[in-house]
Amino acid sequence: MAQNRPVKITETILRDAHQSLIATRMTTEQMLPIIEKMDQVGYHSVECWGGATFDASLRFLKEDPWERLRKLRAGFKKTKLQMLFRGQNILGYRHYADDVVEYFVQKSIANGIDIIRIFDCLNDLRNLETAVKAANKEKGHAQIALCYTLGDAYTLDYWTKMAKDIEALGANSICIKDMAGLLVPSKATELVGALKKTVKIPIQLHTHYTSGVASMTYMKAIEAGCDVIDTAMSPFAMGTSQPATEVMVEAFKGTEYDTGFDQNLLAEIADYFRPMRDDALASGLLNPKVMGVDIKTLLYQVPGGMLSNMVSQLKEQHAEDKYYEVLQEIPRVRKDLGEPPLVTPSSQIVGTQAVLNVVMGERYKMMTKETKAVLRGEYGQTVKPFNKEVQKKALGNDKPITCRPADLLKPELQTIEAEMAQWKEQDEDILSYALFPQVATEFFKYREAQSTKIDSKAADSKNGAYPV
Ligand code: CO
Repeated sequence: MAQNRPVKITETILRDAHQSLIATRMTTEQMLPIIEKMDQVGYHSVECWGGATFDASLRFLKEDPWERLRKLRAGFKKTKLQMLFRGQNILGYRHYADDVVEYFVQKSIANGIDIIRIFDCLNDLRNLETAVKAANKEKGHAQIALCYTLGDAYTLDYWTKMAKDIEALGANSICIKDMAGLLVPSKATELVGALKKTVKIPIQLHTHYTSGVASMTYMKAIEAGCDVIDTAMSPFAMGTSQPATEVMVEAFKGTEYDTGFDQNLLAEIADYFRPMRDDALASGLLNPKVMGVDIKTLLYQVPGGMLSNMVSQLKEQHAEDKYYEVLQEIPRVRKDLGEPPLVTPSSQIVGTQAVLNVVMGERYKMMTKETKAVLRGEYGQTVKPFNKEVQKKALGNDKPITCRPADLLKPELQTIEAEMAQWKEQDEDILSYALFPQVATEFFKYREAQSTKIDSKAADSKNGAYPV
């Protein structure tokens, strides 16, 4: 019999699962009662921070994301905590200077993060250097994600070369990040097999159920040597989220990949989250539409979240009848912009430009600031060259940049701190403000008002303290 090689599991219910299904609206109060049980499962890690959770906490839940992290850290005594980090964008949508990136990594680890999954929407590794070095320096685990996508440029050679570069950069592990659910089982065998032959560091696979193949893909990936998979507890699994934890655990039971997890314990955890799912269905926060198989994602290679954004943009313009035209325009815009993977923020940039091209009735009659920035090289280098004509239209006679974009940015931490000094109650506030100046300011005002209320003993915690 083969030697046992238990598959490791990263649980995503506290981050990606609720980001994918209920617009990142799970509150800290909803998480805390169950984490003691979750801590007993034996997860490789629990993904609980970063991605959209930071923005959504401040913007919609009126919660301090740092406070959430500290509370989770206090509850998870033995399980590693993991976050998602957008390289030089951190958790925001523009490039930040290195001093902000370094400080954010330092504070994330100081407040409780063990593993930082870092990615760049163009797979330009230069945009990950600073974050990886900072994580190494703080003794955190730096995982670099390669954003999986399809296209002429994305060959096995491309992926294995990238994996070699990732290892050389000092990453502790590699994640294949398949945000749209495009990795089909047979390709997982090929890709994971090739990566395992190329690098020594562990390989983790992250996918979404959107196109319906995810659990089969995991099975094949594990058989090909994948070390860790990302799953979500069943009440917030499948659809645009991850395969269900309990199902994957059961699928490997009694095999050389047996996780050894206790299904009764998992059942208790699922029981805790199920009413939350029922409430979300009843309120409409969880749309049954996202729970099915969306085969369009395979046809158009578009992540689920991007499709729903596109629908709402078309609605605003009263142009819902243009849906299929835009779907066909997306791959064309993607080609013009150097065929990047479609993941935040490149997915929004390509999607919005495709909508504009169709609604305006003429391609690139209007270009967003972000489209121009991509064509100017401000996001980094794309795998394929830009469409020269479109680039000319965007830049005129300006020269594009070819260096690492952050090399052109001056340190900005001090300026930011000075700008927000009146609101600062903790050092971490500087970073909240750096990422989302307006949203953070609104939150700081709210926080101040709340503490004044509490001071005057007039606080009523039931009075809209947690707007959802
Ligand atoms: Co994801």
